[in-house]
Amino acid sequence: MVDNNSYMNLPKIHSITKKILVALLGAFLSIFLLLHASANLCILRQDGGAWYNAFCDFMGTNYIVKIFELVLLGALLLHIALSLWLAITNRLARPKGYHKPQRSKTHTGSKLQIWTGILLLAGLIAHFTDFYFVKLGLVDGNLNFYEQAHEKFQIPHIAICYLVFFVVVWFHMRHGFAAIFQTFGLYNYKYGKAIEIIGVIYATVVCLMFTAVVVGVYFGL
Ligand code: HEM
Repeated sequence: MVDNNSYMNLPKIHSITKKILVALLGAFLSIFLLLHASANLCILRQDGGAWYNAFCDFMGTNYIVKIFELVLLGALLLHIALSLWLAITNRLARPKGYHKPQRSKTHTGSKLQIWTGILLLAGLIAHFTDFYFVKLGLVDGNLNFYEQAHEKFQIPHIAICYLVFFVVVWFHMRHGFAAIFQTFGLYNYKYGKAIEIIGVIYATVVCLMFTAVVVGVYFGL
């Protein structure tokens, strides 16, 4: 098999290795998102932020959590870098495109994945500006994240942008879920449909949890 890297002066990592790494990192990030969405539901408790702020304090001070945060950000950066690298080298490997356009679902989904990924990255930068960069002291903001969430999500255009962000996250996760199984050769006629359905359920549950927080805060629930 021709290694796509031969088209560029990049270190030689076989495209299959990159695909496997992207899939494993994607699985890890999907698990984080479920945990992140669950923790954020505490914002909806009518306790003046006692639970959520206690959770954020724990996240900000515990050393094991701090190491996890570094691993998480490393995983996120590597997932993005390898996905972009794969997309670029795949494109360079067939500069004229295929003679016959492929119409398979997988092909369309994979092409869409890089674009939803780029949109997701833009959304993440905005999201980090609202919270994470405040914690790092890179931008001004309220370090009480319960209050910060209320200040942000009660502004209509910000709430709407977050809802659009969650739709993008949904598309990316839904396709990513099936793609992970495909990379490991587990997506076949027998289990393909089940994998698709579980992927849709997983992405929907996670995104509905995020949505509940923004909608709940917006309507003062
Ligand atoms: C209702 C929606 C959301 C809320 C209220 C929220 C809240 C937060 C807060 C408060 C932080 C800073 C935590 C800290 O460092 O102490 C954070 C960080 C982060 N968020 Fe979100 N988030 C939401 C949705 C999302 C979504 C949809 C994604 C990804 C697609 C995401 C990815 C991240 C990442 C990667 C971090 C940095 C790692 C971390 O500090 O844990 N968040 N978020």
